[in-house]
Amino acid sequence: MTTIYDPKLKEEFVREYFYKGIELYERPYTVSDYPNIYHQYLQLPFEIKRPDLCYGSPTDAKITNLHDYRDENIEQLHNKLGIKTLIVEVVYTPPNSNLPIHSDAMPIDNHVKLNITWGNSDKAATRWWLPKDRTTTFNTFPINSDRNDYDLIYQAHTNSPCLINVGQLHDSYNPSNEGRWTLSTIPAHMDNRFIQWDEAMEIYKDYII
Ligand SMILES: [Fe+2]
Repeated sequence: MTTIYDPKLKEEFVREYFYKGIELYERPYTVSDYPNIYHQYLQLPFEIKRPDLCYGSPTDAKITNLHDYRDENIEQLHNKLGIKTLIVEVVYTPPNSNLPIHSDAMPIDNHVKLNITWGNSDKAATRWWLPKDRTTTFNTFPINSDRNDYDLIYQAHTNSPCLINVGQLHDSYNPSNEGRWTLSTIPAHMDNRFIQWDEAMEIYKDYII
């Protein structure tokens, strides 16, 4: 498996693919019949601290690995749940733009992130997509990022703590004049395996709204 968390891949690929502002792509969203395996809000008994770098509205998209940074409360929660935090990063979407359609891992899977976003939460969202040709397979980066070739399957605001499925194809969407900052905590089993959606629903069940 390759992931966008790999620093080498970031140098060679993620910078080029993600870091340029991408013209805002609008698509009307209506609730689909697909089961929601994409997004669940969490009710956590604490507030997630907003890191200092999660402010402002710069023009370039950016993904920043926070290395040793950990939110103390999330660490306590993960200890209690018998899991660990593998990676913490900040994903930034500039005003009036998107990040490209992507999966965080190839081949695509169903692994989760614990996210919280700051910015214009009434408008900004994470969106999930399926190829119009459902037989398409996704095994390597990069993928066809032409949204006209995809159906919009699910959309959610991520302005309060939530689990999101980043193994499925998704983008971020920021139709506001304010920068959209997401703090992403990537949880893992103690042996460093990613946590897949069904596992996450069980592990975090006491906190799922
Ligand atoms: Fe992503």
